[in-house]
Amino acid sequence: MKTLRVGIIGVGNIGTAHCGCIAGGRIKGMTLAALCDIDGEKREILAGKYHVPVFEDGDELIKSGLVDAVIVATPHRFHPHYCETALLNGIHVISEKPAGVNVSEVRRLNEVAEKSRAKFGIMFNQRTDGLFRKAKEIIEAGGIGEPKRLVWIVTNWYRTQNYYDSGSWRATWNGEGGGVLLNQAPHNIDLWQWLFGMPSRVRAFCGEGKYHRIAVEDDATIYAEYENGATAVFVTTTGEAPGTNRLEISGDRGKIVLEKSTLTYTSLMTPEREFCFTCDKGAALPPMTESSYIIPPGRDGHELILENFAAAVLENEPMTAPGTDGIRELSISNAAFLSSWTDSWVNLPMSESDCAEFDRILEEKRALEKAAEEAGNRGKAAEDRDVQGKGTGKEKYISRWNVKW
Ligand SMILES: NC(=O)c1ccc[n+]([C@@H]2O[C@H](COP(=O)([O-])OP(=O)(O)OC[C@H]3O[C@@H](n4cnc5c(N)ncnc54)[C@H](O)[C@@H]3O)[C@@H](O)[C@H]2O)c1
Repeated sequence: MKTLRVGIIGVGNIGTAHCGCIAGGRIKGMTLAALCDIDGEKREILAGKYHVPVFEDGDELIKSGLVDAVIVATPHRFHPHYCETALLNGIHVISEKPAGVNVSEVRRLNEVAEKSRAKFGIMFNQRTDGLFRKAKEIIEAGGIGEPKRLVWIVTNWYRTQNYYDSGSWRATWNGEGGGVLLNQAPHNIDLWQWLFGMPSRVRAFCGEGKYHRIAVEDDATIYAEYENGATAVFVTTTGEAPGTNRLEISGDRGKIVLEKSTLTYTSLMTPEREFCFTCDKGAALPPMTESSYIIPPGRDGHELILENFAAAVLENEPMTAPGTDGIRELSISNAAFLSSWTDSWVNLPMSESDCAEFDRILEEKRALEKAAEEAGNRGKAAEDRDVQGKGTGKEKYISRWNVKW
């Protein structure tokens, strides 16, 4: 096989982009062979434009014999089902991020992947960004030494109410299964663990419907601890303008700062721990050198991940973003939700009982939201939660949209 015949399941915003670059011949090793969407009008347009079979049902596309690989680009909730069906049928699969909503289902999915002859990858396209690759290269070469701290303020995911109103699945517990942590920040959370490793426990505070008329979180602060004593702080929101995107990673031999498309690396000539206990002055700093890197944006990251995936299948190249990393990224966000919901620490890897508790609370939220939607009130689940037992207050509802400092 020299070229993978690819099917795309879910042809919305990002599915259309994948479709365009494969059909346009920009992905070495891939040709467009079939499409699928549950939206009938969309199917008609797609059939007219791409001249490939268009399916209503993703399972049928997978079993059609027309494809060697599929890209799953539906809302997150359906990712595990289509990925698992593909893997069970020996069809290679690349899932859009996040790999799913619940760690428990993505763990199961990876067990299926392990037994399958087909390959499983995740669309963590930001891993191809030159600045993050440079950071990884410095860290892997020992450039920061023993890790001490990661701080990432990524508050430039600003979204308006109009965005949230643009699709009925958006920002709902039933449709997305979460907000900024599930939709916008998975790329950053993945890069956090890719560069700095997995923490051993997490404490988080999520603001649900804090800035928008939605039920899910649009604001989150995660504090995490590592086995070696290192810590991480991760702050994200869709409700702040202008936002910031600044990542700092420090260790006892140096520090990396990424901000405004520049990576600044400071290397300490003497490790800080050694300097601290050998320096004979009270407020001196270890001698250091500083270098800056500006790496112009290269080729689109989605295209690079698709091409890498084709090379992984066809030529056994190492995969840039293997499916197992979907568990790692999702574990941090599931743990953050659970920590916020239960007001407690959550250990990583998540225990079976913590996964079950996460699943239980999420189901409760889904039921509450469904009941509110049936009563014709999108976003009312958040209101109900706050108002319940505290009176009926319309004033309260309105005051929720004011920022309280
Ligand atoms: N990697 C990235 O940069 C990136 C960017 C945007 C979105 N995403 C991810 O891609 C996924 C889709 O996001 P989007 O913004 O394209 O959403 P979207 O709503 O624009 O598109 C989703 C499409 O899937 C279709 N669909 C829904 N349920 C389906 C089903 N069961 N079977 C087949 N088709 C179905 C819908 O009709 C729609 O056309 C999400 O998981 C999102 O997180 C990733």
